[in-house]
Amino acid sequence: MAKPSFSCSACGASYTKWSGRCEGCGAWNTISQDVPLSAGPASKALGARRGRTIALSDLATDEAPPPRTLSGLDELDRVLGGGLVPASAILVGGDPGIGKSTLLLQAAAHFARAGLKTLYVSGEEASAQVRMRARRLGLGDAPVQLAAETNLRDILTTLETEKPGLVIIDSIQTMWADNVESAPGSVSQVRAAAHELTSFAKRHGVSVVLVGHVTKEGQIAGPRVVEHMVDTVLYFEGERGHQFRILRSVKNRFGAADEIGVFEMTGRGLEQVLNPSALFLSERGTPSAGSVVFAGIEGTRPVLVELQALVAPSSLSQPRRTVVGWDGGRLAMILAVLEARCGIPFAGLDVYLNVAGGMKISEPAADLAVAAALLSAREDSALPAETVVFGEISLSGALRPAAQTENRLKEAQKLGFTSAIAPAGGKTGTVAGLQLARPSDLQGFVGETFGA
Ligand code: TYD
Ligand code: MG
Repeated sequence: MAKPSFSCSACGASYTKWSGRCEGCGAWNTISQDVPLSAGPASKALGARRGRTIALSDLATDEAPPPRTLSGLDELDRVLGGGLVPASAILVGGDPGIGKSTLLLQAAAHFARAGLKTLYVSGEEASAQVRMRARRLGLGDAPVQLAAETNLRDILTTLETEKPGLVIIDSIQTMWADNVESAPGSVSQVRAAAHELTSFAKRHGVSVVLVGHVTKEGQIAGPRVVEHMVDTVLYFEGERGHQFRILRSVKNRFGAADEIGVFEMTGRGLEQVLNPSALFLSERGTPSAGSVVFAGIEGTRPVLVELQALVAPSSLSQPRRTVVGWDGGRLAMILAVLEARCGIPFAGLDVYLNVAGGMKISEPAADLAVAAALLSAREDSALPAETVVFGEISLSGALRPAAQTENRLKEAQKLGFTSAIAPAGGKTGTVAGLQLARPSDLQGFVGETFGA
């Protein structure tokens, strides 16, 4: 008999024995035993046709890549790497209620109108409910086929007869394969359903979009369990209190990872935000201490965002370090470099850092903007108005130029900024009307900007 195997429902890590805590992601009570897949005809036939191989050099070289389908929703098309690739598998993950069904219904309508036969399978809502939502979104007349179905076998049969070019499965956690003996949403069910659907898609030239809820409790498998089975992984994120939604690609076999698409949730569904910088900066008031505009790059596009810092005397023996939208470890590093290289201590001070608009930044180029926000908050002195800041800080306090310096500067100039602080080095090109300060180390930056 095969050895039992166990896996974590949060991150998909596999184990040979049960334990209370997953070593992979640190979650508690997420590990459960996998139910083995019952041997189907495919595994019995293993070897019957012998493995066939093809020489790399035999592959035709002048074959053009299959044409991608553009939905016409530019923000979505860009995140996909320039439209939908035929026979590709895409995972769209996100918190419940963030707007995944809304996004995909709109996408389905756009792809259907662009001439791609599209099937929307809902395992959560009845077809009438989906139709009602479509009407509210002004998409009632789009030629999308609807199905309310959770049985995988029935869905595959439907796909075989309907032969759509694109199928959307909302959500993968509601699907169940009848050859797997565990509840829908369990790791083995989600894996089996995702595997069946993606391999069907590859064989029949159908693109498939799997919707996956990010789950907090361990009973239901999260989207990470299927990340490795698909070509493209997109996460739909945003803050509940904000209307901005960001579609971020974290893996893409057909385009740049880290590309983002920005949407706004309105009463009539999601609307594209074609100029995210303007949106992220729209809530910015008059220049104040602790506020700095960072010129970042998200995927292939420059995006300006406001960083806000607050530094206040602490009553705690271990002062607070709170970060929203950036990496806490990186903040600790910047604080340490400021103290060690510039002699500016933050001991006894609470530090809060926030990226405005619910944006998440992962670029090291934000270092200098963070340092500027921290210093500005600590000294209670605002940076000169209409200034953008970017650059990486090394442990020695030296500043490294950021990639795509010129693009960042151009975006800043386009949005009416008049000066920029960026490390020396790096190609700046000619950006008219922008005054440049080019410090080479953090000490120089502190001296020039804050006169310390
Ligand atoms: P939904 O797409 O159902 O989220 P998910 O599929 O990720 O669980 O979106 C749910 C939220 O979106 C809900 O709180 C209401 C809001 N919403 C709007 O604000 N405007 C709209 O036009 C629609 C359809 C939904
Ligand atoms: Mg939904």
